Amino acid sequence: MIPNLNLVPFVSVDHMMKLVLHIGVERFLSELAGYVEDDFRRWPAFDKTPRVASHSAEGVIELMPTSDGEVYGFKYVNGHPKNTREGRQTVTAFGVLSDVANGYPVLMSEMTILTALRTAATSAVAAKYLAPQGADCMAIIGNGAQSEFQAMAFKALLGIRKLRLFDIDPQATQKCMKNLHGLGFEITACTSTEQAVEGAHIITTVTADKQCATILTDNMVGAGVHINAVGGDCPGKTELHHDILLRSDIFVEYPPQTRIEGEIQQLPADHPVIELWEVMTGQVSGRRDPRQITLFDSVGFAIEDFSALRYVRDQLRTVGLYQNLDMLADPDEPRDLFGMILRAQAAQTPPVAVGG
Ligand SMILES: NC(=O)c1ccc[n+]([C@@H]2O[C@H](COP(=O)([O-])OP(=O)(O)OC[C@H]3O[C@@H](n4cnc5c(N)ncnc54)[C@H](O)[C@@H]3O)[C@@H](O)[C@H]2O)c1
Repeated sequence: MIPNLNLVPFVSVDHMMKLVLHIGVERFLSELAGYVEDDFRRWPAFDKTPRVASHSAEGVIELMPTSDGEVYGFKYVNGHPKNTREGRQTVTAFGVLSDVANGYPVLMSEMTILTALRTAATSAVAAKYLAPQGADCMAIIGNGAQSEFQAMAFKALLGIRKLRLFDIDPQATQKCMKNLHGLGFEITACTSTEQAVEGAHIITTVTADKQCATILTDNMVGAGVHINAVGGDCPGKTELHHDILLRSDIFVEYPPQTRIEGEIQQLPADHPVIELWEVMTGQVSGRRDPRQITLFDSVGFAIEDFSALRYVRDQLRTVGLYQNLDMLADPDEPRDLFGMILRAQAAQTPPVAVGG
């Protein structure tokens, strides 16, 4: 008999925050980026499918599964742009890793914070290959929940220190500036997207709106810029003007998903795109030319969540920031599931009826 088969390690929000603080945000992002990159380098080993989305008028709920043949992982995530008006977040998530050999979950974790970290880490990994050499200034359009994570990841991986922020809600920009104060940035709050992109080598768009918005128009994007487009990640939810796409070399995670959800939903289904994993494995070049406009059309793919859960699981081996959840029924004899309830009944005082 294997002891404690009922228990699954669970990382709560409280434990995730303690883990991030224990490791340090920048080190966490850098190490997580390493896990993402390692998994992108073994891309063909993974089961891949576009995420399973359930759309409503208000938002979307999605399941994102993958497996490398040894470990299976999935994330539950939502996207509801109007949520912040009621005090809820736009994006919340949790995820599970399981042992493929027996199907038993080996980790369950909060993933609202982890999604922000993995999204930012993936953006920064992509930018490592695509941003112009010597880039030191990034515009961030949309200063909500994801924005500080993006800033920290680009600082950790690319040394970005100058930020130009814009949000249609100035309070969001103030919040972002306040949170990043003292963390080594030189920050300019801007009053328009046009102003924010002036002099920026990297433009991150990370807005939330359930519509095809035009956050960036063609005239705002000069030669040589890298665009990190994070907010357009659903059918009918984009951020960039169509003409920008025609001038850019477009890099994506998993084309079958990005064609449904990304900026490229605006383009014909056969418009050429480059898969990031091929750039990371050296099969295709990333940035070739200082005047080239590169676009990472980020939508978020299951393998990034798998990498993030794998990273957290490895940290738990040395840092005990988790609790055991009594999550899996574990009868004394595997086929005696009903008998386990009867034994529980007998142990109750006074006994309660099982039927009814
Ligand atoms: N690609 C990915 O992997 C990935 C992962 C997580 C989140 N996202 C997406 O990123 C976006 C941002 O997520 P969040 O959690 O930060 O949302 P959020 O609601 O916390 O913040 C979004 C911000 O965008 C601002 N905004 C809206 N329209 C704007 C406009 N026209 N110009 C400037 N600012 C504008 C809002 O005022 C708000 O402050 C969402 O669309 C979300 O779905 C993508």
